[in-house]
Amino acid sequence: MLKSRLCELLGIEYPIFQGGMAWIADAELAAAVSNAGGLGLIAAMNSNGEQLREQIQKIKTLTDKPFGVNLMLMSPFIKEAVDVVVEEGVKVVTTGAGNPSIYMDKLLGAGVKVFPVVASVGIARMVEKMGASGVVAEGCESGGHVGETTTMALVPQVVDAVSIPVIAAGGIADGRGLAAAFMFGAEGAQMGTRFLTATECNVHENYKKAVLKAKDRDTIVTGKKLGHPVRSLKNDMSREFAKLESDGTTTTDELEKMGAGALRRAAKEGDVKTGSLMCGQIAGLVNSENTCKEIIEEVCGDCEKLLKGAEGWVK
Ligand SMILES: Cc1cc2nc3c(=O)[nH]c(=O)nc-3n(C[C@H](O)[C@H](O)[C@H](O)COP(=O)(O)O)c2cc1C
Repeated sequence: MLKSRLCELLGIEYPIFQGGMAWIADAELAAAVSNAGGLGLIAAMNSNGEQLREQIQKIKTLTDKPFGVNLMLMSPFIKEAVDVVVEEGVKVVTTGAGNPSIYMDKLLGAGVKVFPVVASVGIARMVEKMGASGVVAEGCESGGHVGETTTMALVPQVVDAVSIPVIAAGGIADGRGLAAAFMFGAEGAQMGTRFLTATECNVHENYKKAVLKAKDRDTIVTGKKLGHPVRSLKNDMSREFAKLESDGTTTTDELEKMGAGALRRAAKEGDVKTGSLMCGQIAGLVNSENTCKEIIEEVCGDCEKLLKGAEGWVK
């Protein structure tokens, strides 16, 4: 059995987090991951308190296993979301898209285990000092908002910098990726792109098909000019965005307007032309739809075999 401090700390069977994914990671997906032995996470995204509470109450009816909430720090409802997490007795939180410092005291005071998603060694060190239970070190191969450092370079540097558990994210979708994460010193992995095509994932069928069809070079990063770069599949929307971003005549306000609502259009309405299909570079390796249980058992089972067989490399 694959075991790490993460499993003990959270009471989970497998060291796997399902990444929070705005408009996609709902109570059903998170419950399926938790029931399969990983840690399912509801994406709070821009939900107001009431909407988030509904999802949390729903997951409580779908699983009695540990689950968490991913707080999107740029949300206009972030304060409400933090309050709801505390009131509902959520035990685990990951934070994305920003600096969680001003919410740490409240969350830690309520006994919530906080795992900020970090893209640099500096932020990892900072959140460890604030009392984070672990960090998700996310490389720029990932889908969604991205930093600048690759998973391969980031994870071992974060591992050396902190003593709390590190969860590797970005570009991990099979047992080889998880085994590599362990070799870098991580104690688990967070996957987003792989779970996009899970049977229990309620993302629109057109989106799922696009991810299943994608090859290694089919993603693009846009939004650097806005200060929040995003990786998504190449389509009419992302190509046009990239063109306008580089032509120098389009204002940041115009670009912000163009991006607004684009992920929802793709995820909920299946608009794969003008919607944003956020997705990681590893999509080329994601070629089948599987249940969350199948995904987790395959990834962890293959990883275990690889780690056991690693001695074969040493003569
Ligand atoms: C469609 C999509 C939406 C995402 N939304 C969020 C989000 O709301 N909050 C967050 O912290 N991370 C978000 N992420 C990042 C994931 O949680 C996860 O860290 C990432 O997908 C891991 O890399 P991978 O895609 O290579 O597996 C998103 C990723 C995708 C693909």
